[in-house]
Amino acid sequence: MKLLVCGGAGFIGTNYILFALKAHSDYEIVNYDKLTYAGNLDNLREIENNPRYKFEQGDITDLDRLNEVISKHNITHIINFAAETHVDRSIHGGTKEFVLTNTLGVQMILDAVRFNKIERFIQVSTDEVFGSLGLNEDRKFTETTPIWPNMPYAAAKAGGDLMCNAYWITHKVPVIVTHCSNNYGPYQFPEKLIPFFVFKLLKGEKVPVYGDGLNIRDWIHAVDHAKALDLLLHKGVLGEVYNIGVDNERSNLEITKMVLKLMGFGEDKIEYVTDRPGHDRRYAIDSSKITALGWIPEYTRDKFEQGLKETIEWYKNNTQWVENIWQKKQNEMNVFQKGLERSDEKQQSST
Ligand SMILES: NC(=O)c1ccc[n+]([C@@H]2O[C@H](COP(=O)([O-])OP(=O)(O)OC[C@H]3O[C@@H](n4cnc5c(N)ncnc54)[C@H](O)[C@@H]3O)[C@@H](O)[C@H]2O)c1
Repeated sequence: MKLLVCGGAGFIGTNYILFALKAHSDYEIVNYDKLTYAGNLDNLREIENNPRYKFEQGDITDLDRLNEVISKHNITHIINFAAETHVDRSIHGGTKEFVLTNTLGVQMILDAVRFNKIERFIQVSTDEVFGSLGLNEDRKFTETTPIWPNMPYAAAKAGGDLMCNAYWITHKVPVIVTHCSNNYGPYQFPEKLIPFFVFKLLKGEKVPVYGDGLNIRDWIHAVDHAKALDLLLHKGVLGEVYNIGVDNERSNLEITKMVLKLMGFGEDKIEYVTDRPGHDRRYAIDSSKITALGWIPEYTRDKFEQGLKETIEWYKNNTQWVENIWQKKQNEMNVFQKGLERSDEKQQSST
């Protein structure tokens, strides 16, 4: 297997590469990443000299570069993690980047798959493309739930999903699309909920909870997600869609209280802040289709507290990792923060 992993320097891509190199001695992996603010090669230091791992910097919207790397390394399979992923950024500015990478970028990979006769391409997507479920609705997202995204991030991801379907139907491009729920685990960029809260608490600061905190997500460990994707590389049916989740629905407030308890803080550290505009209420995943293929996640609902505890320990033991990110990405973070402030000022002046 000569595998091109697009976006391998991000959170889930890193977890996937570290897992796959250990699990399969016959895999050769090329990590193709643009290294946006979210890409971090420090994640992969322990394998940078592994002869079965190579890094190539590149943008998935650049078809010439994709073709060059694919032919240089005789690539046979592709998994795409590369995306703009932070929902708040897609709301408060930079939406164009989301459409370019999450929709156009996927179409460029599909062309590269088609013209280079790649055997199999896994497009990693999200449950957010389905829109929102009601809090008390007795329903989960299945593979046939209509795509109806509410967030610009999710709409851009949905564009990529639809393009995969169209290339499968029109050109028989060998693609599989996955919809996974919220991931947690090591190496997550510290703007996302769990690492963000951990680092705020380590600095003695309060943690901001959007709205009433009752928005529900199904939380899965990134390594379980990685194992599901790896299974699909071998056993997934081409042209199909697979949902990935572990029946671990938790409200944001419940997650916040668990993080506080595991870190030895009380609920006085919670600060309720204005809700995210258009904030989806609930996501829940029916993953019976991939389970029937033989996927067995380790961190099921009853092991969530253990997974969360291990994750928090990892961040506490790797504070230098986050310090390096702040130093390297300070500029980018400042630009984003200024954009947020400007957008908040506009909201305030219009209310
Ligand atoms: N994090 C979650 O909870 C979650 C849940 C479900 C699905 N997903 C999907 O999984 C994938 C990975 O998510 P993540 O949380 O690891 O993201 P991330 O933001 O941590 O990493 C994204 C990576 O993609 C790279 N990248 C961005 N634009 C690129 C481009 N144009 N060309 C090449 N590389 C580019 C970045 O440098 C970074 O390394 C995404 O497609 C996301 O939609 C994430």
